[in-house]
Amino acid sequence: SRFDVDHLAQCDSTNTQLLARAQRGSGSGTVLVADVQSAGRGRRGRSWVSIPGGNLCFSLLWRFAAQQRLEGLSLVVGLAIVRALQSLQVSGLSLKWPNDILLDGRKLGGVLVEVAQGAQGEWAVVIGIGLNLRQAPDLAEEIAQPFAALSECGEPPARELLLAAVLRALLDVLEAFAREGFAPFVEAWMPWHAMLGAEVTVEQHGLVRHGRCGGVDALGRLAIDMPEGQVFVFGGEVSLRRV
Ligand code: BTN
Repeated sequence: SRFDVDHLAQCDSTNTQLLARAQRGSGSGTVLVADVQSAGRGRRGRSWVSIPGGNLCFSLLWRFAAQQRLEGLSLVVGLAIVRALQSLQVSGLSLKWPNDILLDGRKLGGVLVEVAQGAQGEWAVVIGIGLNLRQAPDLAEEIAQPFAALSECGEPPARELLLAAVLRALLDVLEAFAREGFAPFVEAWMPWHAMLGAEVTVEQHGLVRHGRCGGVDALGRLAIDMPEGQVFVFGGEVSLRRV
């Protein structure tokens, strides 16, 4: 297999642990899975709360050449996840740009991509994925956003099965992304776009603006129509909300 999977009963954050292993030379395709994370991290400094036994939490290390442009990577990861879930007969899925997985419009999972650079400029990318398998009603107060779990659609797939399906789908998209970047994925990504045409607020560097969501471009940037014209934003720097 292209993957080397290591399973931990518990850790702080699989992203944190895998970033450390990447510095020590772990190879592309190393996967770290944790049953429970005590300090799971989300985008923009938020935390990712584990539902004990109810999440799939893992990180994958993937190395890219120095000249690789990484914009759009989290979008292709989202695409791989919905394709994997679809292969397991899950429906009602969509993607909230840049990297939330939605089920019936509520958050089912998220992607946290973190990047370290080697001495020759090559990229060691840690792709962290968290997916909710089971509901934990008592956590509703800890988690600000409305969230969803696969158990809403019947008995969720076994974690190992889901992990294998996501890894298989990731292998396809990561190899294509390394060759051709995001451009060939625009067409495949757009049908999953949860916010297309929606009125949103865009928060960027502390500045909040209103606009209407357009599509994504060949770099994975989101087009937003604002009164002053169309702007393109990168995923790393913005937070998007429906109004
Ligand atoms: C987000 O929704 O903002 C991203 C959530 C990413 C959570 C996953 S769980 C496995 C990996 N380890 C972490 O600490 N975070 C990611």
